[in-house]
Amino acid sequence: MKTAITEMFGIAHPIIQGGMHYVGFAELASAVSNAGGLGIITGLTQRTPELLAKEIARCHDMTDKPFGVNLTFLPAFTAPPYPEYIAAIREGGIKIVETAGRSPEQYMPALKAAGIKVIHKCTSVRHSLKAEAIGCDAVSVDGFECGGHPGEDDMPNMILLPRAAEELKIPFVASGGMADARSLVAALAMGAAGINMGTRFIATKEAPVHDNVKKALVAASELDTRLVMRALRNTERVLKNKAVDRLLEIEREKGASLKIADIHDQVAGAYPKVMIDGDMDAGAWSCGMVAGLINDVPTVKELIDRIMADAERIIRDRLVGFLDGTGQAQPAKVA
Ligand SMILES: Cc1cc2nc3c(=O)[nH]c(=O)nc-3n(C[C@H](O)[C@H](O)[C@H](O)COP(=O)(O)O)c2cc1C
Repeated sequence: MKTAITEMFGIAHPIIQGGMHYVGFAELASAVSNAGGLGIITGLTQRTPELLAKEIARCHDMTDKPFGVNLTFLPAFTAPPYPEYIAAIREGGIKIVETAGRSPEQYMPALKAAGIKVIHKCTSVRHSLKAEAIGCDAVSVDGFECGGHPGEDDMPNMILLPRAAEELKIPFVASGGMADARSLVAALAMGAAGINMGTRFIATKEAPVHDNVKKALVAASELDTRLVMRALRNTERVLKNKAVDRLLEIEREKGASLKIADIHDQVAGAYPKVMIDGDMDAGAWSCGMVAGLINDVPTVKELIDRIMADAERIIRDRLVGFLDGTGQAQPAKVA
């Protein structure tokens, strides 16, 4: 399949693996890129720019296909040394960066000078337009369904994607709730040039996380995520567990006076405990509603091949079937 995104990033399939804290290591990024998608290493999971340089080198050893690095811009008081992370990215020969969080405006000159294509993740049309205005090459439009930070507008992709298509000139991918060929075909129909998946890629053989995490995703339904940190205007969609139950209790008790320190035990340091140790109640970790569509743990290649084959079948048999008036249109079932 050829879209503006496959052309821009030099990839075979319009499928991107979004940056994920403690998941986006070289194992997963290289597996996605080797399967024809765009794998992304999560920059800040590497505690120093030197460690990121090593992770990039490790990924180069595992694939000769393009892959990217995610740089998440956090609030200023916790700012990591971004210029040095960007230097590691540039010197590692990376040509694609997924930015997220705050606007990447300040860092655009450095990224562009290095010939890097920037895809910024946004949860609203206004932020997407800002990204376009500051020179981003593409946008990842992240709907309310998404795992991680959906923003504060609560805009689901059925509205957000067509709105983005109405306003944007640069290409965009649909992010949040994307799981299979139905997601891809629907996203393309709504104006996107591909999809970005987070949660779905965690439940793959190559994702370097504890088996308990994959089992939890297969077991979870679409009803099992919760929104936390609303009162802090830093909303995060996470999988329900004991720590999240306690966190929500504290949020109810504190109301608008909630401070990040009040929920420190439920959020700080949760990722290594969950992703590496497999302690599923250790703390809050990002997870999308799409967990309800995850029923297996395939290899990344099986997942991507299946999405592309099913997408072709849905388009040719089901959709064209409607136009032909054969009345035989196949249901949009996927493997
Ligand atoms: C466990 C997990 C960790 C994530 N960490 C990050 C991160 O560090 N930076 C970032 O930009 N996005 C992060 N995300 C968001 C994903 O890149 C992606 O935008 C999101 O998962 C898309 O929604 P989906 O989960 O419904 O596919 C994370 C998502 C998950 C599930």
